[in-house]
Amino acid sequence: MPQLKDLVVVVTGASSGLGWHLACGLARRGARVVLSARRRQRLEELAAQIILAGGSPPMVMPADVGDWNQVVELGRQVEAEWGGAQVLINNAGRGAYGLLAELPAGTIDELVETNLLGTLYCTRVFLPQMLRQGRGHLVFVSSVLGELPAAEHALYCATKFAVNGLAESLDAELQSTGIRVTLVEPGLVETEFAQVSGRPAGRFSRLPAKSAAEVAERILGAVERDQFRLVPDLLGQVGICFKRHLPRTARLFFRAVFRRLLRKSQGN
Ligand SMILES: NC(=O)c1ccc[n+]([C@@H]2O[C@H](COP(=O)([O-])OP(=O)(O)OC[C@H]3O[C@@H](n4cnc5c(N)ncnc54)[C@H](OP(=O)(O)O)[C@@H]3O)[C@@H](O)[C@H]2O)c1
Repeated sequence: MPQLKDLVVVVTGASSGLGWHLACGLARRGARVVLSARRRQRLEELAAQIILAGGSPPMVMPADVGDWNQVVELGRQVEAEWGGAQVLINNAGRGAYGLLAELPAGTIDELVETNLLGTLYCTRVFLPQMLRQGRGHLVFVSSVLGELPAAEHALYCATKFAVNGLAESLDAELQSTGIRVTLVEPGLVETEFAQVSGRPAGRFSRLPAKSAAEVAERILGAVERDQFRLVPDLLGQVGICFKRHLPRTARLFFRAVFRRLLRKSQGN
């Protein structure tokens, strides 16, 4: 998808953070953006901001990605009003901080519904529209934790490892259809994510975090270049390379790092 101008692009999780900045970057490129998330008011504020900046008026479509009927309705509206999507950015997601043994079952359901089922539902609904057009681009916003382990983030890791499996498999499955796949694995990004996850403020404070605006630009650049995998920060690239090439040493290393962190969080 080298040119995003005039393409219909669906952004899930557009009401804050990365999704918000992705939508702004798309509008600057002349794309026709479908803004989706659960908070309608935030989406309307974003739409107003895009119009004020001279962008094409976006379509505001609130939906919970974990609800199949709402995602079907989102797909139906995009097809009816704008003839279908050419790009889907599966960005909606949330984290959950805590030991798996202590997480409420409801949190497990919410994460699986949003991060995994939501991504599957949106892809299942919009992929046939792209197949009918013979072109399209699926973007999966995963995480470095789609490849690396993290104590106190096991549930989140499980959902993002699954998203990586989905993206890698679709990249193989769709290779002769004209539909491209981009898998994004960000490290820390300054958004509402940590707050929603319930992660303590000081946690990972020594690790570098990127701005959402910068990561969003990197993602759009990767889509324009038809790049399959994007790991926006160096630390993530090093960690993934370490695990792939020296898996045993990496396992010992990660265990040691998280042993220290766990001691700290338990106040020992
Ligand atoms: N921030 C980081 O450090 C980081 C690092 C790696 C990967 N990521 C990934 O980046 C993506 C974007 O997160 P962010 O950092 O921008 O966090 P954020 O600021 O909390 O944004 C999350 C977005 O997802 C939407 N969302 C949550 N649950 C939803 C649901 N059930 N249905 C529809 N929309 C839903 C939220 O909107 P509503 O509440 O209005 O629905 C919001 O727009 C996520 O997939 C996250 O896993 C983030």
